[in-house]
Amino acid sequence: MLCRAVQPEPVMYRSIHAKTIAAKPRPTDLAVTLYTKSKKLPSQYRVLDRSVGGALSRLIRCDEFRAEKGELTTLYPPKGASRLFVLGMGERATFTLETLRVASARLVNAASKAKLRRVDLRPLVDGLGTREMGCAIGEGLMLGNFSFDTFKGTTSNQISSPVRPRLSVHIEDDLRAGVARGLLIGESVNVARQLAATPPNIANPTYLVSYCRKMARQIGLDCSIVDAKKARAMGMNGLVSVGAAGSAPPAMICLRHRPARPRAGPILIVGKAITFDTGGYSLKPRDSMTGMKYDKCGGMAVIGAMRAIAQCRLPIEVVGLIPAAENMISDRAYRVDDILTLFNGVTVEVTNTDAEGRLVLADALAYGCKRYKPIAVIDLATLTGGVVVALGNWCAGSFCNDDSFHDVLHRAGEHCGERIWRLPLWNEHKQYLKATHADIVNASGRMGHPIQGAAFLAHFVGPGGKPDPGCSIPWAHLDIAGVASVESGSPLCPKGPTGWGVRLLLRTIETWKESSE
Ligand code: BES
Ligand code: MN
Ligand code: ZN
Repeated sequence: MLCRAVQPEPVMYRSIHAKTIAAKPRPTDLAVTLYTKSKKLPSQYRVLDRSVGGALSRLIRCDEFRAEKGELTTLYPPKGASRLFVLGMGERATFTLETLRVASARLVNAASKAKLRRVDLRPLVDGLGTREMGCAIGEGLMLGNFSFDTFKGTTSNQISSPVRPRLSVHIEDDLRAGVARGLLIGESVNVARQLAATPPNIANPTYLVSYCRKMARQIGLDCSIVDAKKARAMGMNGLVSVGAAGSAPPAMICLRHRPARPRAGPILIVGKAITFDTGGYSLKPRDSMTGMKYDKCGGMAVIGAMRAIAQCRLPIEVVGLIPAAENMISDRAYRVDDILTLFNGVTVEVTNTDAEGRLVLADALAYGCKRYKPIAVIDLATLTGGVVVALGNWCAGSFCNDDSFHDVLHRAGEHCGERIWRLPLWNEHKQYLKATHADIVNASGRMGHPIQGAAFLAHFVGPGGKPDPGCSIPWAHLDIAGVASVESGSPLCPKGPTGWGVRLLLRTIETWKESSE
């Protein structure tokens, strides 16, 4: 009998800093300005420049000052403000929303290092639409402000004071709606990061279930759970087998956003949530096991996206499924050579217990297709190390059975800075999965691992959850193993989980109207 630890209460994400946008700017607090590369003071800044004793125009006259993209210069003007931050926007021609995000992230970092409480932000950039620019600023402020402090203990010297000052950013009226939205979205990305960083001894499937229940109550999502018992009764043997040896039973979390009069939908989003992946009996070597708490990042992106979708009140019905399990070893664990009958009746011969993600996703995809009859399906998973070898860290690998649907996703990715790159999935690839004693194997050989994963999942997407060679439901599979976490920090994200996918999902669903039907 396993001794089960008392389940800790989930730590809900508390929004930090960068929160309030005051109606009345108080320029005396601190002046901050965005500036595109130029040798002449823009006329809009003349008054501001005078108020800080000409500090800005003096800076511009300096030869060494270039306002490169992402560059942050701090001035200590003689009057008018204690600090004046100058955010470099680089060349006008190469200016993108990402420039603004990064600059805003740098700003929030500098401001919180200086323990500032108030920053008056006066961006002067044009050409991309006020709302979009505001949104990018809000996202940058919130993303740049993330840190995972929950477990910084008494000997940690990283936190100088237990309560970080709350920073409020003052900004002009026409940008405010965009910024507020960006902050809201950034907050949901941080929720995904916070959950992903929570260690496997705490964030097990049971923890995720209570987190989602609580979150759903708070923000008005429907939440239902297929617990282990129900999952077994329903024939979800992928989920049940993978989670059989876990320290907590597996579960499938179902979050549903139901607007009163949906314009379209439902769209189904599914995220792999392996709370820790030891590899099972096909055990991972020790160095490859480190960081496997991030094997839940696909699921955390779905949780974050559902939160953002609800808070932004998108007029589209969306269902988010998070199959959660811990891939461990014990006398109850599943084995190599086991043959599993999954939710839709497809039988799988287990050739590698480390190819567990596709088994839990398979049940969720088939169940989701049958139960919700989605008009489109997107799944996200840290599915293979192979995708990291192939594509590295700058994009996720994508597979899609519908060119125009892929276009929508790709465009959304370019817009929000979460980029995807398409890999092939052809009928020929199904040959990888031929099994001797069942319909398919879950993995074979060393060739095209990311494609094998996608070819496997393709057996579980279709009307009624049955395999559909006609591809009548547009479906995309995103292998996010390379982008879910980073080894070194950047302005927008410290070392650790990135929350990748939250913004891509939101943007894709938000732009649904233009793209389909
Ligand atoms: N969770 C891993 C994939 C992974 C590897 C994510 C590295 C992040 C970083 C997944 O469950 C796995 O083990 N995949 C196997 C697949 C193989 C057995 C077909 C892999 O990539 O080796
Ligand atoms: Mn694995
Ligand atoms: Zn895994």
